[in-house]
Amino acid sequence: MAVYAPRIPGPARLVVLVSGSGSNLQALLDATADTAYGAEVVAVVADRDGILGLERAEKAGVPTHVVAVKAYEDRAAWDAALTDTVAAYQPDLVVSAGFMKIVGPVFLARFEGRTVNTHPALLPSFPGAHGVRDALAYGAKVTGCTVHFVDAGVDTGPIIAQGVVAVEDGDDADGGDALHERIKTVERSLLVDIVGRLAREGYRIEGRKVRLGS
Ligand code: GRF
Repeated sequence: MAVYAPRIPGPARLVVLVSGSGSNLQALLDATADTAYGAEVVAVVADRDGILGLERAEKAGVPTHVVAVKAYEDRAAWDAALTDTVAAYQPDLVVSAGFMKIVGPVFLARFEGRTVNTHPALLPSFPGAHGVRDALAYGAKVTGCTVHFVDAGVDTGPIIAQGVVAVEDGDDADGGDALHERIKTVERSLLVDIVGRLAREGYRIEGRKVRLGS
């Protein structure tokens, strides 16, 4: 069982992992502007350069790092480098917000139970990199987003919260882009709400069950 009790005093330290546009990161940055939120983004780490997510962090004055797989000899070396980079900021929580890499065993040994991911589908349906497209192709009538703790699997960790989004008839037309945008609107507010609650209230993980509050 993993237990996190909020640190008193002071905001929880968040390291956010990104790979893309970083709109979830932006929502967190906006939320943390209010000290009552109970958390601050102390660093943003990406697996690639030249992304809007890094620009958003820089604009907010948050330190950034790029830890790209291709810069390392193998996946294990990347895993160790990612772990060291994140660990240097002593985070209370790590938030994988559109980070398109599976973290490795060294990272999990250090941060499992403290790493939250957001996924654009209702897990355990449609895990993996194409959750929106896969739900659409399957003919699902509702889909949504899942905020969950990260474990060694692909989007398999204990679920913290989910948001539901209806699939509309026209959603096939653009390959799921509009559906993904509707999901992301729900996803951002869910992520902000859950990360804030984890930080302020603490939590415990009992098997697959996540209980908020210490
Ligand atoms: C989110 O929908 C996330 O769940 C998925 O990619 C999207 C990232 O969006 N894996 P952004 O980079 O936060 O704008």
